[in-house]
Amino acid sequence: MAKPVHILNGPNLNLLGTREPEIYGSATLADIESACREHAQGLGLEIVFRQSNHEGELVDWIQAAGREADALVFNPAAYGHTSVALHDALKAVDLPVVEVHLSQPAAREAFRAHSYVSLAASGTISGFGADSYILGLEAAARLIASRRAGR
Ligand code: DQA
Repeated sequence: MAKPVHILNGPNLNLLGTREPEIYGSATLADIESACREHAQGLGLEIVFRQSNHEGELVDWIQAAGREADALVFNPAAYGHTSVALHDALKAVDLPVVEVHLSQPAAREAFRAHSYVSLAASGTISGFGADSYILGLEAAARLIASRRAGR
């Protein structure tokens, strides 16, 4: 039976809309959630959409996705650059993982160039603003279809 795609969001993404809009745009996280819901419907996918400022809660949600999701779309925000725990949690679940970022971290400060999440993700989509999530969902749909087809 098909399971939903879990879309997880890390720290400070609850502030989208007012947080450095010149970098992250004017869409709120609720706007992004609505756009994801609408797009997922067109792809025939259900989604679960969550945000936390707490590393351990994100670890718990990655483990839950391992049981309850067909794929994970994940914006780890700053924890992508720092968290071995998130890396290890992603490695521990047998799921396609699409890392997404609104901005293009590689074109910003040097400390954003490294991502522990990238090391455990199927691929990364960054730099397209809120559309990174839509493209992330598209990638997740393709990865789910490939898995089903045994490719
Ligand atoms: C971000 C990029 C990260 O470097 C930053 O810490 C964030 C947001 C993005 O979506 O562009 O919080 O993940």
